[in-house]
Amino acid sequence: MLSHLRARRPIAAPSMLKCDFANLHREIELLDSAEASLFHWDVMDGHFVPNLSYGAMVIKSVRPLTETPFDAHLMISDPSKYLNEYINAGCEAITIHLEAVPEPVAVLNEIRRRGVVAGLAINPETPFAAAEPFLKACDLLLVMSVHPGFGGQKFIPDVVSKIRDARAMAGNDLIISVDGGIGPATIGQCADAGCDVFVAGSSVFDEPCYTTAIAALQQTARGTQACC
Ligand code: DX5
Ligand code: ZN
Repeated sequence: MLSHLRARRPIAAPSMLKCDFANLHREIELLDSAEASLFHWDVMDGHFVPNLSYGAMVIKSVRPLTETPFDAHLMISDPSKYLNEYINAGCEAITIHLEAVPEPVAVLNEIRRRGVVAGLAINPETPFAAAEPFLKACDLLLVMSVHPGFGGQKFIPDVVSKIRDARAMAGNDLIISVDGGIGPATIGQCADAGCDVFVAGSSVFDEPCYTTAIAALQQTARGTQACC
């Protein structure tokens, strides 16, 4: 899974929070025909963030519909309690929040031990320095560019320096992802800073054609990286 992500970067990963849940099967088919490389599942517990979404049961039920890798973005207070459920649901990557688990090494090690990509997310107000001691324990760093909890928010440009710092510090092996307010106007600066995976909710699902939307985002990211 790590090699899949590394080989395909830049990746625009649809944030399933913004999909049409009345037609989830169809949405997955459309994203597969758009050649999405990663599905981003936003899990919210109404406690760590002020919103509720879906959990492992829903993810597990759609897992047989596609071979595209799943990343569970766990915006929940005690992720270690639920790791098994998300691994058993077939998630190939699991991302936990540093703000929920201030000493994340044991949880990240456990995710890796189970053969799953271990991701660590930081909120906009969390400095890069807080995540730095844990970079070696994770495969993926998720830089939140909105306050977690809702789709459709405005991109916070201040976070771009964290992407740049992480890339400079960790080299090319670390997968760096950005999540929130990513679209044609914001993806370039993140790509230029060294980001690999661009989580995109509104800028995919609000568009009439997912193939065009994903290809355009990836092309913009690639163009920015290529020229810098
Ligand atoms: C926010 C989520 C995001 C969000 C992205 O808490 O983690 O994945 O759904 O949606 P857009 O792209 O609309 O900001
Ligand atoms: Zn997310």
